[in-house]
Amino acid sequence: MGFKALPADSIAMLDASHRRQEQRLDECLDAVQALTDGRAGQDQVATIARVLEFLRKQAARHVEDEEESVFPRLAARPDFSELLVALESEHREHETMIAELEDLFEAWADAVPPSRAVSVFASRFAEFSAHYRAHIAREDDELVPAMRRELTANELADISSEMISRRPKSSRWSRVGRGRKRRSL
Ligand SMILES: [Fe+2]
Ligand SMILES: [Fe+2]
Repeated sequence: MGFKALPADSIAMLDASHRRQEQRLDECLDAVQALTDGRAGQDQVATIARVLEFLRKQAARHVEDEEESVFPRLAARPDFSELLVALESEHREHETMIAELEDLFEAWADAVPPSRAVSVFASRFAEFSAHYRAHIAREDDELVPAMRRELTANELADISSEMISRRPKSSRWSRVGRGRKRRSL
């Protein structure tokens, strides 16, 4: 007898994404601080490049998960329009801020930049990070409980399937969704 496949859990997937996003913000803040302190080099520049790429790709896909799979289902319930409009508008603000950070970073041309350029980037990234964390916290505190409370098991399962379909077949959530053992969140 084989093991029973664990269903992919859309709430656990969203939560795991939020924790990963916070981790990436911390990595970037550490790298920027090291550059600010003059105790960093190419490794920290590479870390910042990786985090910006993560924000452009994985975090953007997370926004699709929310805006295309979660928000429309909650929008069908009363009382959520204010929250959903606010979260969507914050997503657009993040996109603008990420594009600005990328422009600043591109001017470094993958080299350790002069201290003035580091200080401009450091201040913009700190602002972005605070804004992004506040957004995650609001979703953890208001969106996730609303999903738990309002959505049916079928709706949550449909959200999971849609989230998995946005990911490459090799991703861990796709493996879970196809019935292999979950390794970790
Ligand atoms: Fe969001
Ligand atoms: Fe989110």
